[in-house]
Amino acid sequence: MRTRTLGSTGPAVSAIGLGCMGMSGAYGAADETESVATIHAALDAGVNLLDTGDFYGMGLNELLIRDALRARPGSRDQAVISVKFGALRDIDNGFHGVDGRPAAVRNFLAYSLNRLGTDHIDIYRIARVDPAVPIEETVGAIAEQVQAGRVRHIGLSEVGAETLRRAASVAPIADVQIEYSLFDRGIEREILPTARELGTGITAYGVLSRGLLSGHWSPQRGVAEGDFRAHSPRFSAENLDRNLGLVEALRKVAEGKGITVAQAAIAWVLSRGDDIVPVIGARRRDRLAETLSALEVDLSEADLADIERAVPPSEVAGTRYPTAQMAHLDSER
Ligand SMILES: NC(=O)c1ccc[n+]([C@@H]2O[C@H](COP(=O)([O-])OP(=O)(O)OC[C@H]3O[C@@H](n4cnc5c(N)ncnc54)[C@H](OP(=O)(O)O)[C@@H]3O)[C@@H](O)[C@H]2O)c1
Repeated sequence: MRTRTLGSTGPAVSAIGLGCMGMSGAYGAADETESVATIHAALDAGVNLLDTGDFYGMGLNELLIRDALRARPGSRDQAVISVKFGALRDIDNGFHGVDGRPAAVRNFLAYSLNRLGTDHIDIYRIARVDPAVPIEETVGAIAEQVQAGRVRHIGLSEVGAETLRRAASVAPIADVQIEYSLFDRGIEREILPTARELGTGITAYGVLSRGLLSGHWSPQRGVAEGDFRAHSPRFSAENLDRNLGLVEALRKVAEGKGITVAQAAIAWVLSRGDDIVPVIGARRRDRLAETLSALEVDLSEADLADIERAVPPSEVAGTRYPTAQMAHLDSER
């Protein structure tokens, strides 16, 4: 497995990480046995970066990772566990903002360490910036946990360039986790150059636009009520056909290269720089295999131009989150 280093101070991780969110309900029902088998297959293939959030499945996702690692003695030391915290939730699956107060950081961390059954978290980050708490305070509280040995590295999620700069003035920031794909290239304007200037890596999510940009989506595929995609503007009836039209254009380019749509989408993000690590939400072993094959894809300058011509981001219909959730994105201000 090829590795990439997250920023100038972060850990060495596999060039592709495994995002575990979809294994605990975010994209409808998931198969727990298959999820654990997928984590094991990823570890066997040399994937060490496992991404989760304490609010994924209300803590169940951390328990799933704990169980998967326990079933493989020695794998905790192999894994780089990245945890997001801070989301305030209710039992009806609602989100009610974030809590980035130092006392909350200590509280969230204690629960995560317990659920994961570990004495440290490798990368710890607040999921969204708490507008009521200066980022310096939140990051400062995580930095105290680094000193105490309970956290190894500090990350951020969906922050804008200015917030990243302020956070990095408090402590080294290993990576910013943020949506980056052929559909969403917004970070190229300001966030990516700032991250590069500060020695901060990028862990890119939404690389497959949550399955829309995978080549496996079709208008006939239904989405259950609890599935994020049931409320995503990109998947809505008025936008889906247009977005799938872009996927078909990409399919033509991909087929010309003898690769799949998903592999083209992942290989394109991989080609954007060694400081960028795609975190892919495979939740089945066949999807994982397709994902990891993207590491073998070699894209020439001409291929990259063909891919970008097929999928101009300005042609994508719908925002990447519903309006209420867009408002929580510091990165979109
Ligand atoms: N920091 C943040 O704000 C944030 C936000 C969201 C996610 N994340 C992290 O990023 C990770 C990646 O998730 P994502 O939401 O960005 O999803 P993604 O990787 O863009 O898409 C994952 C979905 O694509 C479908 N898919 C189709 N072909 C695939 C293939 N070959 N390989 C993998 N998936 C394929 C799967 O859906 P089906 O299984 O339904 O077919 C899967 O659930 C998450 O697990 C989470 O850890 C972070």
